[in-house]
Amino acid sequence: MAAGALIRYTHEKSMDESKGPLTLSIDVGGSGVKMMILDAAGEPLTDRLRRKTPEQPTPSLVLAEMVSMAAEIGSFDRVSVGFPGVVVGGMTHTAVNLHDEWAGFDLRGALMQRLAKDVRVANDADVQGLGVIEGIGVELVLTLGTGIGAALFMDGKLVPNLELGHHPFERGKTYEERLGDLELRKKGKDTWNERLQRAIAVVDRVFNYRVLYLGGGNAKQINFELPANVRVVPNVAGILGGIRLWD
Ligand code: BGC
Repeated sequence: MAAGALIRYTHEKSMDESKGPLTLSIDVGGSGVKMMILDAAGEPLTDRLRRKTPEQPTPSLVLAEMVSMAAEIGSFDRVSVGFPGVVVGGMTHTAVNLHDEWAGFDLRGALMQRLAKDVRVANDADVQGLGVIEGIGVELVLTLGTGIGAALFMDGKLVPNLELGHHPFERGKTYEERLGDLELRKKGKDTWNERLQRAIAVVDRVFNYRVLYLGGGNAKQINFELPANVRVVPNVAGILGGIRLWD
C-alpha cells in the first residue's frame, strides 16, 4: 500500500481520542523492521509498515531506521519494542543476528530520547508470546525466523529471555544452527521440516507444555501434521503482543 494512504488512515483513526493511548509497536527482526500503531485495546489502527533491516545492523543504523519509520506511520503516545536478543531493563545484552555493538546498549533510553515518548522493550519471542498465550498452565512459544526465539509462560507469567535457540539440539548444533532461516534455505523445506518435527519431540519432553505455539516468518513453511497441542500463530502476533508490555 502507498505510504500516503497509510498515513491518512492512521491520522483519521488517531483523531478518535477514545482509542488512546496509541501504542507504536515495533518488531525488530534480522531481515526486517516492522511496525504498527495499536489502539488501547491492542487493535491495529494502521497496516504493517516494513523496511529491510540495515545491512550493517548497528544500534545507530537500526535506531535511525526506526525513527524514520515512526515519523512516517503517524502519531502515537508510547512505544513497545520486540528485540531479537536478551533484553533486561530496556538494555540489550545480545543480538546474535544483528551486531556486537548491541551488547550493553540502552535501547529504551535511546528511543525515549529520539521519539520523546515512553518506551518499553522486551525480547521479540517474549512479546510474540504475550500476544498469543491463554494464560493457563505451561505454554511455550517458539519463533521460526532468522533466529529461533523461545518464550516460556506459567499461568500467563513470563520467564524472560529463555534463549532456547542457542542450546544444543542435535549433531553438536544448536536449535538455531539447525532450524534458522539460513539452514532452511541451504537444506530445503523437507529437511527443515524433518528437523522441526524432531525439535518439537524434544521440547515436548523437556517442558511438558499444555500448548506449544509456533510463530515467526517461517512457520508458514511447516508441511507436516502438528500434534493436537501445537498451534501455528500468525507472524503479526509479534507486533500485536506489544500492547501487553503496558499491562
Ligand atoms: C536470539 C533471541 C531471539 C531469536 C529470534 C535469537 O538468535 O538470541 O533472543 O528471540 O533469535 O529473533
